[in-house]
Amino acid sequence: MEKVALANGIEIPIVGTGTNTYGKEDNQYNGELNGDFSALESAIEVGYRLIDTAISYRNEAGVGKTVAESGIPREEFYLTTKIPADDRYVGSKESVEQTILNSLENLRTDYIDLYLIHHPIESIEKLKHTWEVLESFVDKGQIKSIGVSNFTVEMLETIKGFARIQPAVNQIQSNPHTWNDEVIEYMKNNNIVAEAWGPLSRVTDEQKARLEQIGENYGKNWGQVLLRYQIQRGVVVIPKSHNKERQLSNLDIFDFDLTVEDTVIIKSL
Ligand SMILES: NC(=O)c1ccc[n+]([C@@H]2O[C@H](COP(=O)([O-])OP(=O)(O)OC[C@H]3O[C@@H](n4cnc5c(N)ncnc54)[C@H](OP(=O)(O)O)[C@@H]3O)[C@@H](O)[C@H]2O)c1
Repeated sequence: MEKVALANGIEIPIVGTGTNTYGKEDNQYNGELNGDFSALESAIEVGYRLIDTAISYRNEAGVGKTVAESGIPREEFYLTTKIPADDRYVGSKESVEQTILNSLENLRTDYIDLYLIHHPIESIEKLKHTWEVLESFVDKGQIKSIGVSNFTVEMLETIKGFARIQPAVNQIQSNPHTWNDEVIEYMKNNNIVAEAWGPLSRVTDEQKARLEQIGENYGKNWGQVLLRYQIQRGVVVIPKSHNKERQLSNLDIFDFDLTVEDTVIIKSL
């Protein structure tokens, strides 16, 4: 697995698995929790080690259990979770601290590889105290890297103004519907790694057909072409599938290079 170095020197796998519908009835985001983590077991079995969860997915504990029971050493995994921007979690320093301690317990681990603020926090004061607590957990070694999600350039600039430890990652939507190129360009210039959520979402049939056509030159499908496009430009991807074949397919993207001409077409989709 290829890796990308974060600003702090720690490496993150360039492909991971999303989990936002894992452990839920009918594979629905808002579905009841049913304890079925077979999709995550299968993802681990086929080789995924970066696992992206969040408190709002309600499945941290199931992810922690599945990882612990995989028999694979903890150090081989790269676990990401996210604190929601609601007052219940970020309202005070104490609530942030308690939230992180709960994540550590749910994930059955002594340290979390990457802890993100899931969405922008409107109040600068709350953003600041949340960040300070995250920094203090980095100091203690209980979190290895900290970052944000769904932050605009302006919000990244705000955090840059006061952060002692700069955000290592900004997880944002990036797919043919919304590439988010402006923020990705800013991040590249500011040593913040871009991680694409929904990398296989919001692709029209027409775009899929165009991507399939490009893929014919490489013996790859539309999803592989899209994921390759992202990793070729240094963007970490976290595709999610409940299907083992597609989980495998989404990992099978390291044996070809898209030509510049093809990347230009994909960019303009
Ligand atoms: N930070 C945030 O605000 C935020 C927001 C959204 C998501 N996320 C994270 O990002 C992860 C990924 O995003 P996502 O789950 O929304 O969407 P995604 O990974 O872009 O797409 C998932 C969908 O694509 C299908 N799929 C997967 N591989 C495929 C392939 N090779 N060919 C055709 N279809 C394929 C899956 O269906 P099957 O299961 O049937 O294969 C599923 O319906 C999430 O799970 C979550 O961890 C973060």
